[in-house]
Amino acid sequence: MEIIKVKDYDEMSAKACSYIIEKIKQLQAPVLGLATGSTPEGLYKSLIQQYNEQNVSFNDVSTFNLDEYVGLENDDPNSYHFYMNEKLFKHIDIEQNHIHIPNGVAENLDNECQDYEQQIMDAEKVDIQILGLGLNGHIGFNEPGTPFSSRTHIVDLDESTRKANARFFDSIEEVPKKAITMGLDTIMQSKEILLLVSGASKREALDRLLNGDISEEFPASILQQHEHVTIIADKSALEG
Ligand code: GLP
Repeated sequence: MEIIKVKDYDEMSAKACSYIIEKIKQLQAPVLGLATGSTPEGLYKSLIQQYNEQNVSFNDVSTFNLDEYVGLENDDPNSYHFYMNEKLFKHIDIEQNHIHIPNGVAENLDNECQDYEQQIMDAEKVDIQILGLGLNGHIGFNEPGTPFSSRTHIVDLDESTRKANARFFDSIEEVPKKAITMGLDTIMQSKEILLLVSGASKREALDRLLNGDISEEFPASILQQHEHVTIIADKSALEG
């Protein structure tokens, strides 16, 4: 794993932005894996800015998002469909049919998981998967205890994850109890992974990811087994 240490959140976002743009320029039909949460917001802002300055086009880019809440309609402000549209897609020249996000209101959620997994495989894998890090080591919505062999599946969200994400909702009761997420093996199939970590609250999780045992009890530890991981982390996430 390569670790790029940066000063703060803004530098993390700027570095991640140049990293992604570089990739987009190298590849003919880049497939990006996207994350939500607070961590990649700055990256998305920077990508929009670079697009506005005509330094990048997303015309040939396809995207697969990591996860979506079960039960939230696409236009629900807390859905990841809404998040992605507001924070990135509606501002850039990406083709609508190149965007993939699990459908959390599908009638048959198991079929939705299988279809989503198939679409990723049909795209011949994700070229670069952006990840954030959950406080309990979750990546995507793969909570502790998720088998390393998992593919796209339905999860019961941990109470700690619901609490952490309650800041986006009016109250914790409104935070869905389930989500669809790419599995750990799905994530590991990506050709390359870019993990972004910022802030002192993530320090313990990052330390465990880098130095702890590889264990299903700490999902992000699986990244130690991936051959091409780059971590962009700021000082407060890295230093005790
Ligand atoms: C969320 C998302 C993850 C995200 C993580 C960290 O629950 N499902 O994709 O990476 O938790 O979120 P944040 O970046 O807001 O700290």
